[in-house]
Amino acid sequence: MSARLKLTLSYAGFLMIAGALLLAAVWVFLLRYVPDGSITGPGPFMPNRSDLLRAFAPAAAAVMGFLLVFGLVGGWLLAGRMLAPLRRITLVARQTTEGALSHRIRLAGPDDEFRELADAFDAMLDRVESHVAEQRRFAANASHELRTPLATTQALLEVARSDPASNTPRLLERLRSVNARAIDITEALLLLSRADQRSFAREVVDLSLIVEEATETLQALADRRGVIVEVSGDVALVRGSPTLLLPMVSNLVQNAIVHNRAEGGTVEVVTSAHAGSVRLVVGNTGEVVPPASVSTLAEPFQRGAGRIRSHHPSHDSGVGLGLAIVKSIVQAQDGSLEIVARPSGGLDVTVDLPRA
Ligand SMILES: Nc1ncnc2c1ncn2[C@@H]1O[C@H](COP(=O)(O)OP(=O)(O)OP(=O)(O)O)[C@@H](O)[C@H]1O
Ligand SMILES: [Mg+2]
Repeated sequence: MSARLKLTLSYAGFLMIAGALLLAAVWVFLLRYVPDGSITGPGPFMPNRSDLLRAFAPAAAAVMGFLLVFGLVGGWLLAGRMLAPLRRITLVARQTTEGALSHRIRLAGPDDEFRELADAFDAMLDRVESHVAEQRRFAANASHELRTPLATTQALLEVARSDPASNTPRLLERLRSVNARAIDITEALLLLSRADQRSFAREVVDLSLIVEEATETLQALADRRGVIVEVSGDVALVRGSPTLLLPMVSNLVQNAIVHNRAEGGTVEVVTSAHAGSVRLVVGNTGEVVPPASVSTLAEPFQRGAGRIRSHHPSHDSGVGLGLAIVKSIVQAQDGSLEIVARPSGGLDVTVDLPRA
């Protein structure tokens, strides 16, 4: 039974009950003023009860019949009007199921429950659509990035085959570095998907210890680049996974060292504990980053100068996944990430995590 039919029947039913009650009330009222039995005596003609019943019953039946027809027709039309938004929502839901994510309900009219449902549905579609688009872009970029080292390997091997006298140690060294890059990319992708899945064990960890570990490991890189790394801060306990927090901090510190001035650069890493959160700030000197591009830096495969499609990857050029990994990890730990360009050059990256 359709909802429209059910609504129609309940409208008609209620109308019939109300009509019956009204008629009963009239009947009771009439009975009070008409005595039982026939009335004799002078005076105007007074009806008795059976006269009354004979006159009342057909009129009452006609009224009930009218109410039934009125209730059914009116109910059918009213229910149709009430349910129209639902049909529109169903139509869009069907189109979405068939794969077209661009349809929206955009229900006009008063701000009622149906409008609320339609707006919530539209908002959900907006999110799903942008998420799907993001995933597609990501898959395309990831395949492209992974194809680059493979294509380079292929080219190197072909050159070697056509020229057997070529320099084998050099070839091997190039193959090794190209392969290392492919491994880096794959590892970054794996880390990204692991953070996105949110499947990791949580424990209480001191973020400042993780910062210490990360900066110690990266000290050699900083020395090579002539960058001074300053670490400060207090104990900062968070609930999280050390296997994710370490790459998060390492990526931020590595970025701060690598994307720094050619000489005389500095990096400051500060951890602090606040009322409900723990804050990590990684700031560095460097070239001026246009504030407009700051918002896209954390997108996968975004590098300073956009997506660089280099077929000769040097070991220094990054993959462009570092900040995307940081963002995913921060989200997985229910924290927030803020990237601000320093007017004098370089970035201040702030991570807030819930305090343990
Ligand atoms: N601390 C920083 N200071 C200045 N620019 C930065 C900083 N961190 C990131 N950037 C800019 O943001 C871009 C994206 O950073 P991201 O870490 O995602 O990629 P990447 O460092 O290029 O590669 P990798 O995947 O190896 O980390 C960088 O290419 C760089 O231009
Ligand atoms: Mg990086």
